Amino acid sequence: MKTLIIYFTMGGRTKKTAEAIASALTNYEVSYFPIELTGKLREKIKLLDKFENKDFSLIDADLSTLDALLYDLIMFGMPTYGNFPPKIFDEIIARIKNFSGKRAIVFNTARFTGGKTLDYMKEKVEETGAQVIEQAKFRKLFWIGTKNAIKFGEKINKMQ
Ligand SMILES: Cc1cc2nc3c(=O)[nH]c(=O)nc-3n(C[C@H](O)[C@H](O)[C@H](O)COP(=O)(O)O)c2cc1C
Repeated sequence: MKTLIIYFTMGGRTKKTAEAIASALTNYEVSYFPIELTGKLREKIKLLDKFENKDFSLIDADLSTLDALLYDLIMFGMPTYGNFPPKIFDEIIARIKNFSGKRAIVFNTARFTGGKTLDYMKEKVEETGAQVIEQAKFRKLFWIGTKNAIKFGEKINKMQ
C-alpha cells in the first residue's frame, strides 16, 4: 500500500511527528509532500505571513503536482496557529487532485489545546468526498517526543 504524508512545518515539530508516524508504517510505501519554512527566524516569519495572507506564489509549482491518484492513504499533518491549521491547509485541500473517495488521516501538533484544528481539518477533508479514518493530536508545551506518534503509526499500520 502507498501513503502520501503532506505536512507543513515551521519549527520542525510537525516534521518530526510525521517522520515518527512513518517509521511505524512498515506495510506502506511512504512518500512525503513537505512544506517546510527554512532560513532564519525573520525569513520564516516573513514567509509565514505571506502564506497566512494566502500568497502561495513561491510554492505554486509544487502545489500543482499534488495528486492523490497513486496513493491508498493520504495523511495531513499541520501545526496549530490561533486554534486552527495554517492557511496552507485550505490551499492544499483546494489543490489536491483525485482526492474524492480516498481514505485520509489528519493530525496536528500544538503547544496548548490545539483548538479546533483537528475538527476543521476533518471537515475540510470530508467536504471533498474523502473519508477521515483516523485523527490524532500531538500536544507538548516544550520538547515534543516521538513515542505517541510511533504508537499512532503502529495503529494505522494495522488498519486495512
Ligand atoms: C503563530 C503561532 C500561533 C500558535 N497558536 C497556537 C494555538 O493556538 N494553540 C496551540 O496549541 N499551539 C499554538 N502554537 C504552537 C504550535 O502549534 C506548535 O508549536 C506546533 O507544534 C509547531 O509546529 P512546527 O514546529 O512543525 O512548526 C502556535 C505557534 C505559532 C508560531
